[in-house]
Amino acid sequence: MATHRILFVCLGNICRSPMAEGVFSHVAAQAGHGEKFIIESAGTGAWHIGNPPDPRAVAAAGRRDIDLSHQRARQVHSDDFEAFDLVIAMDSSNHANLLRMAPEAHAHKIQLFLDHLPDASGREVPDPYYGGDEGFEEVLDLIEAASRALLARLT
Ligand code: 4NP
Repeated sequence: MATHRILFVCLGNICRSPMAEGVFSHVAAQAGHGEKFIIESAGTGAWHIGNPPDPRAVAAAGRRDIDLSHQRARQVHSDDFEAFDLVIAMDSSNHANLLRMAPEAHAHKIQLFLDHLPDASGREVPDPYYGGDEGFEEVLDLIEAASRALLARLT
């Protein structure tokens, strides 16, 4: 039975939050906890609705045996704050936008992803969209570490 419903959120839903969806699902499954989670991702922006993740994100995750190719971008909508237990932002801009959108009763569900990572509290997952391939590797390292920390907290 699913016990935790988590929505990972970035700006475009083609780089960071699809990687977070794929990586968290992967580490949870590896640890034998896959059935305890419903994991999705979404973007605060609308530019990429319906698109697959950025090819650089698909390639970087693929090098870690994580398949993102089936994902399609969608925008955060108001029902999400009801439907999910945690809504986890990649950066403080996403975080602030989510707080503006959320009904007050659900605002407590909104978190900053790296607040789960010891020593990284308050830090942000940087947007790799305008950089090179190495940026995607660094972002994946951060996402993987934060995913393991979040999983440990929830299991
Ligand atoms: P993401 O990266 O928020 O990690 O998906 C971005 C992707 C696209 C854009 C911005 C950020 N964009 O402006 O199109």
